[in-house]
Amino acid sequence: KHSGVVKIVEVGARDGLQNETGVVPTTTKIELLEKLSSAGLTHIEAGSFVSPKWVPQMADTPEIMKHLRTKPPFAPAGVTYSYLTPNMKGLKDFISHSTLNTGVSVSEHASEIAIFGSASEGFSQKNINCSIAESLERFRPVAQLALENGIKVRGYVSMIIECPYDGPTSPMKVADVVEGLLDIGCYEVSLGDTNGVGTPGTIGTLVNYLIKDRGIPAEKLAAHFHDTYGQAIVNCLVALEAGIRTFDSSVAGLGGCPYSKGATGNVATEDLVYFLEGTGVKTNVDMTQIVEIGDWISKKLGRKNESKVGTALMAR
Ligand code: HMG
Ligand code: MG
Repeated sequence: KHSGVVKIVEVGARDGLQNETGVVPTTTKIELLEKLSSAGLTHIEAGSFVSPKWVPQMADTPEIMKHLRTKPPFAPAGVTYSYLTPNMKGLKDFISHSTLNTGVSVSEHASEIAIFGSASEGFSQKNINCSIAESLERFRPVAQLALENGIKVRGYVSMIIECPYDGPTSPMKVADVVEGLLDIGCYEVSLGDTNGVGTPGTIGTLVNYLIKDRGIPAEKLAAHFHDTYGQAIVNCLVALEAGIRTFDSSVAGLGGCPYSKGATGNVATEDLVYFLEGTGVKTNVDMTQIVEIGDWISKKLGRKNESKVGTALMAR
């Protein structure tokens, strides 16, 4: 029924590993990131320039970037590694590490950053220690400096359906934050069902409101669905049917969010690829390789592989 090609943004090494309780060796992260790009994934989040006091798991992001920043053979052609930068300090650290000793400009790395806001005040405070309005003001100069340096800027909005602190989120609030992020220069805004509570009913209402009622082009939206309640794949179908063509996912379903109690990982990349290819949509991701990577990283971390497709194919 469906056709065309979608963009998958692999967030396992960031959204996934930020939530691991044990220390994940930097070498394991680099190995994971390199494996992911060789499986055909072209958009890969590699880490976060955030406070190590807030998210200790991402403290080695500068080390990771030092390894990945260079052009081939480290970073395969056509692969973009992106990093979260919540404020000016984060962006400046990102810029200094990406150019350090390379002799090339930041833009030559085809780099990308992401700024991340929330549709709920409670989560905004817990996650980035400021109100929604303050966050947009904080992001504006960050986006501006990034764009001046040829760095693409992606936006996130969390708690699009319901917030553990504030309760249900109104679609109007989500639209306001999406428009705010587009207005300050994001080329795309990723819709975060952070705690995975959305259903085809609530997600359908929201995406139709954003696209039809508020006139936000579907090309500017991405689906970032956590699978906490087992709804992520069916919600991706709803997003696909509404015209969204960018999907965030995490190999082996790694993850959660340190500031969202009970949240589990994103939709597993293996499950997403199986679903999309099965409906006739191309992903350009190698299924055999991504399944092997999911198995490898789950064993490395000593955790259950949360991908149903990965588990099924490994058992064959
Ligand atoms: P703050 O405490 O308000 O910041 O935190 P501050 O500017 O007052 O600075 C306080 C200290 O932090 C200072 O150090 C700064 O230098 C340091 P001190 O003087 O105390 O030693 N600092 C930094 N250090 C490193 N990198 C930085 C940085 N900025 C300040 N960039 C801040 C504000 C935003 C920094 C903090 O709240 C933070 O780091 N939050 C990050 C939270 C996070 O990473 N959450 C997970 C990602 S979001 C997510 O998972 C959701 C998503 O997946 C979508 C979805 O599912 O919904 C994207
Ligand atoms: Mg997330």
